Amino acid sequence: MKLGVVILAAGQGTRMKSSLPKVLHPIAGKPMLQHVIDCARHLDPLQVVVVYGHGGERVREEVSDPDLIWAEQAEQLGTGHAVEQAMPFLQAVDKVLVLYGDVPLIQADTLKTLIACETDLALLTVKLNDPSGYGRIVRDNNDRIISIVEQKDALPEQLTINEINTGIMCIRHEPLSRWISRIENNNAQQEFYLTDIVAFAVDDKVNVLPVHPETESEVSGVNDRLQLAALEREFQQKQAENLMRQGVTIIDPERIDIRGDIVVGKDCLLDINVILEGDVSIGEGVNIGANTIIKNSRIDENVNILENCVIENAIIGASSKVGPFARIRPGTELAGNNHIGNFVELKNARVDKGSKVNHLSYVGDSEIGKTVNIGAGTITCNYDGANKHKTIIGDNSFIGSNTALVAPIIVNKGSTIGAGSVITRETPEGKLTLTRAKQITIQNWKRPVKQPS
Ligand code: UD1
Ligand code: CA
Repeated sequence: MKLGVVILAAGQGTRMKSSLPKVLHPIAGKPMLQHVIDCARHLDPLQVVVVYGHGGERVREEVSDPDLIWAEQAEQLGTGHAVEQAMPFLQAVDKVLVLYGDVPLIQADTLKTLIACETDLALLTVKLNDPSGYGRIVRDNNDRIISIVEQKDALPEQLTINEINTGIMCIRHEPLSRWISRIENNNAQQEFYLTDIVAFAVDDKVNVLPVHPETESEVSGVNDRLQLAALEREFQQKQAENLMRQGVTIIDPERIDIRGDIVVGKDCLLDINVILEGDVSIGEGVNIGANTIIKNSRIDENVNILENCVIENAIIGASSKVGPFARIRPGTELAGNNHIGNFVELKNARVDKGSKVNHLSYVGDSEIGKTVNIGAGTITCNYDGANKHKTIIGDNSFIGSNTALVAPIIVNKGSTIGAGSVITRETPEGKLTLTRAKQITIQNWKRPVKQPS
């Protein structure tokens, strides 16, 4: 069976009160439309057509999928009209699945059931306590679906129906093209309703079959920022539950945010307000303290990251300890067993096994050997105002507190640097090097005294 997916995304989204097209508003850092496209791709479709209108160019730019087909709907004349714009691109498919760009949490498993229905028209419907605003599913005395009536066109007794049209449906291609051409706009909203095809199908003796989603959030649409926030929480809750099922302890599943593709090993502990973004992989037994943000990084097993750290595009080797209040910037690689302490900033720094930078330092564009100790307040002066230069520190070196290493610079292995030095030339292996004025004491010096006024 060849499947075509049509994603309706032309609506304006006035109630978002935004200059960003509605379908680009993110859930977990990813545009809603991208969620829908990614879900559609799990169905292995022949074609995916996005019907766009408002903010079209921006939508095309910000959604990544080279194989998408874009169908413009210049004027939003209704859902039937929207699907019609996609039909020329769907000549070769057997079935057409209609999705909404503003219903982001739809699940592939539900859609697989819908597609598998052996009928010309299958609808995804759900019963709601409050069905107001939605199209109602009208059934006959034998409980068979006979039509969908929109809220604004419904008779008073139809308004009491609580089974609603989610808008998501799967239709065999051949009758769909016939039915679409029959849709008219003589209704309360003067729109071409896709939902009119249900009555046409019944005319053609088609058995219209309903399928129901597992949860309501799968079919919840976003019309304003309150609904956007509600779905964000639903999505985050689900991700947290998945991690907990895989053996991750989450101190409070309502206070964690995962915005990307995350792998977390067993027996990790995530404290409150942790944010994981992009591609993050975390090995077993890792502890992540409160308020820590990790983007596009790899954290190996048994690492202990304390509170309030920011880690981006970095590798933290096994059994290292980081933070609290450490900033690990792109290009940093810790080989393992490292200690990176408070108020330490690392950027593009390769730090070999067992080395420590424990307090108040900046280490950038550097290669640090094994078991090096970098004293408090040490700064690699990597920038001369125009270019960046490299600092190389050999194994077993000891850099005294408050040292300035003026790059390009090599500190050879086993060097000891006296505290407070400004190092501008290569230091010899295994020796003590320091640049320090001799300490003197001024005899007879007196503190100034305040003059009487
Ligand atoms: C539609 C359904 C209704 C269903 C509800 C579920 C019709 C006639 N009604 O109503 O039965 O209960 O969705 O949310 O289908 N869109 C376009 N072009 C258009 C019109 C809409 O692309 O010309 C897109 C919108 O961007 C949106 C989706 O289609 O993603 C639904 O449009 P919306 O106006 O929200 O439809 P409803 O009136 O809510
Ligand atoms: Ca709607």
